[in-house]
Amino acid sequence: MNKNFKKGFHSICVKDLVIDGLSSHVPPIYATSTFTYEDLDAAFDFFKKGGANKDVYTYSRLGNPTVKLVGDKIAALEAFNVKDENGNDLKAYGMLFASGMAAIAAAILANVKAGDKVITQGNLYGTTNELLITILKDFGVETIYADLKDLNFVEDAIINDEHIKLLYIETPANPTLECFDLDGLAAIAQNQDIKTVVDNTFSTPYLQQPLKFGIDFVVHSSTKFLNGHGTGTSGVLVGKDENFINTKLYGIQKMIGGICSPFEAFLLNNGVKTLPLRMDQHQKNAMQLAKFLSEHPKVSKVNYLGLETHPDYAMAKEQMNGPCGMLSFELKDGLEAGMNFMRAIEFCTLTASLGTADTLVTHSASTSHVNVPREQRLRHGITDGLIRVSVGLENIEDITADFSHALSAF
Ligand SMILES: Cc1ncc(COP(=O)(O)O)c(C=O)c1O
Repeated sequence: MNKNFKKGFHSICVKDLVIDGLSSHVPPIYATSTFTYEDLDAAFDFFKKGGANKDVYTYSRLGNPTVKLVGDKIAALEAFNVKDENGNDLKAYGMLFASGMAAIAAAILANVKAGDKVITQGNLYGTTNELLITILKDFGVETIYADLKDLNFVEDAIINDEHIKLLYIETPANPTLECFDLDGLAAIAQNQDIKTVVDNTFSTPYLQQPLKFGIDFVVHSSTKFLNGHGTGTSGVLVGKDENFINTKLYGIQKMIGGICSPFEAFLLNNGVKTLPLRMDQHQKNAMQLAKFLSEHPKVSKVNYLGLETHPDYAMAKEQMNGPCGMLSFELKDGLEAGMNFMRAIEFCTLTASLGTADTLVTHSASTSHVNVPREQRLRHGITDGLIRVSVGLENIEDITADFSHALSAF
């Protein structure tokens, strides 16, 4: 094959990078905690050069071939067709973690120290928010919440506070699918010389590539759409600064140890192979379910980025390749209606996660946010009758039949 041959997005998902000289078709799971030294001189040489090294396999906390292969693949997807400042293909570098939270924690820890501040949105994924206001606060890192839609406010806040060192963004955000302008926010951060992190869990690189807009780091809960089957817990971090990844971030991973296991990496790789096909179908079903819900008399509002009624429809069209497979809707009759809807669901699955092959339904007010003060959850769009749906790959007629039945049960 011509060495200039450039694989397409689907091909990168499907094809595996070769690990070794063997002809295993599917990458093996390197279920080993250590790798042996050829002889004492090799061991001596390794330690003399400083020990832990991302490219030399010695101990699986410091690096494992199965894990590396999958991190490299996801980095290639995040950088697919993205150009660097010189117009060349952007090279991105990926790392896998034990969970989305381990990747997010590493991304934040790598970019702030005591006395620094993080600027972010109010509707972050709950545990990311908890990390900022508990552990990071205790270590002297302050969080400033801002309306990230208001670019002037964000810019002024950063200009007027030299302690703000990181802009952390989640787009689209839970549960209303609110979007933030990646191009505008990245430009502000670059001009003010601060770093940016984007949680790309809902979109995956198939639907949104934050690096294209000049964002510095992308994080994922690959537990979700990237794995796609709900079979494992893992996280991804992708960046474009090779030196920073290899030193600062690799150091954090090495010392804190939140590594992805080779088995989880293997499962993640299997999921990524069908990512584009699944995302296409998630979106197709989500669009049909959103239309069905929009016309239902018991539904007061549908939050779906594929509907022109969504306030961020235009922004999503601009920065995403599709409206994704997540939606939420509000029931007219509030809390009781939400609980009754959930009690009546039979076919779809009642669980808190998202991004699996089957349709997952959550009523936040009675489950994940039951202990959050009502005023606080309302501020973030979690209304009494709000149902969040991770739309799956089943026959759409079966999903709508279940929803129709559940909506008629109260
Ligand atoms: C948007 C988002 N980011 C991060 C996380 C955390 O990921 P994990 O559960 O893999 O640690 C989640 C989990 O639900 C999430 O929804």
